[in-house]
Amino acid sequence: MDETGVAEGKVLDLLGRIKEKDVPFERVFSSMCTMPHPLAIQAHMEFIETNLGDPTLFPGTEEIEESVIAMLGSLLHAPNAHGYITTGGTGSNIQALRAARNLNRKEHPNIIIPESAHFSFDKAADILGITLKKAQLDENLKVDPASVEMLIDENTIALVGIAGTTEFGQIDPIDELARIALSHGLFLHVDAAFGGLVIPFLDEEYPFDFKVKGVSSLTVDPHKMGASTIPSSALLFRDKACLGALAVSTPYLASRVQHTLAGTRTGASIAATYAVFKHLGRSGYKHIVARCMKSVSMIEKEAADMGIRPVIQPVTNVIALQVNSPDEVASKLRERNWYVSTTVSPKSLRLVIMPHTTEEILNMFLTDLREILGVR
Ligand SMILES: Cc1ncc(COP(=O)(O)O)c(C=O)c1O
Repeated sequence: MDETGVAEGKVLDLLGRIKEKDVPFERVFSSMCTMPHPLAIQAHMEFIETNLGDPTLFPGTEEIEESVIAMLGSLLHAPNAHGYITTGGTGSNIQALRAARNLNRKEHPNIIIPESAHFSFDKAADILGITLKKAQLDENLKVDPASVEMLIDENTIALVGIAGTTEFGQIDPIDELARIALSHGLFLHVDAAFGGLVIPFLDEEYPFDFKVKGVSSLTVDPHKMGASTIPSSALLFRDKACLGALAVSTPYLASRVQHTLAGTRTGASIAATYAVFKHLGRSGYKHIVARCMKSVSMIEKEAADMGIRPVIQPVTNVIALQVNSPDEVASKLRERNWYVSTTVSPKSLRLVIMPHTTEEILNMFLTDLREILGVR
C-alpha cells in the first residue's frame, strides 16, 4: 500500500485496465458460471453492506434468504425445506456431509461417492476426517447402483449422487440410490450444483430431487445456471434436524446460533438470487434451458457432420466430443481465444453451453473447430 492515496477516477481506470485481461464470457465454453442477469447485479449492489453472519441486525435480508430457500424448496419438491445460502457448491457439499457425519458419529466414517463426483468431495473428506469410497460408473457414465451397494460397510454414513456431473452433465439414478440409502438407513446427499436449475426445466423428467423419498439433502447453485451473482449456492435439507446438526453457539453476537460454515456472510448475492428468481419465474428458466439445449443439439448435429460423436448422448447442457487428441485441439482453440476444457476419463473435448453462448458465437466457434480439425 502506498503512503498517499490516488483519486477515485484513477483507481477505477487502473482496475478497468487490469480487468481487460479477463476473458469475456462469450469466448468461454469451460465454465459452469455465466454473466449474471442485470437485475441480479442491481439487487446485489443494493444489499452490498448486508451481513447475514448476524441476522438479528438484518431481519429484512434474512427474510429474503428464507424466501429463496422456500422458492427452491417448492421447485425441488420440498416446500418446507430447511437450509441456507452458502458460498458455492463446495461449501454446500462440505456442510451436507458435515451434517451427515454429526448425525451418525463413527470412529472411522466413510461415504460412497460416484467416480464422477466433483473434487469438492475430496476437500470435504479431508476437512471432516471421512474416507471416500468411489463407486464405478456404467457405460453411460452414471453411477452403478450395484457398485455403490457393494461398497457399503458398517462405517458408511452417507451416499452421494450427482444430478448434472461436472464433466459430462450426466444424471445419476437418484431413485435407485435412494432405495439403497433407505434400505441401509443411510443419509443421501444429491449434488445438483449444476443440474438443480437445469433438470426441472428439461422436457424429459428425471427423478433427482426431494420428490424421491430417501433424498436427505441437496446442493443447487444459483450462481451457475441460475444467472445470479457469485457467491450463491443453496444447501437444502428435508429435515430440520439436519440443519440442527450444524448448530454452533455464537455467544458474543446479537444472534445466538449459527448453522453456517462462513461467519460473515454477504446478503448481496442472496438478494440477487431472490431478484432473478422473482423476475424470471419458472417460465423464464425454461426458456433459458431450452435455448441452451437447442445449442447443444446444434453442436451435436455439426459434430456428426464432421464425423465426431459425443461421449454420451447429452442429457443436460454439457456435450463432450470424441475428437482425436482433445488437449491439442483445446490448445489450438485457445490460440484463437476460445476457452474449452477436456475431460479425464474418457478423454474428450468438453463444451458447457451456458446462457452467454449465442447462436452467432456458436457458429463462429464451430467454424474455427472445423478448421482446426481440418474438416471441410
Ligand atoms: C457438480 C458440481 N458440484 C460442485 C461444484 C463446486 O461448485 P463451486 O465451484 O461453486 O464451489 C461444481 C462446480 O462446477 C460442480 O459441477
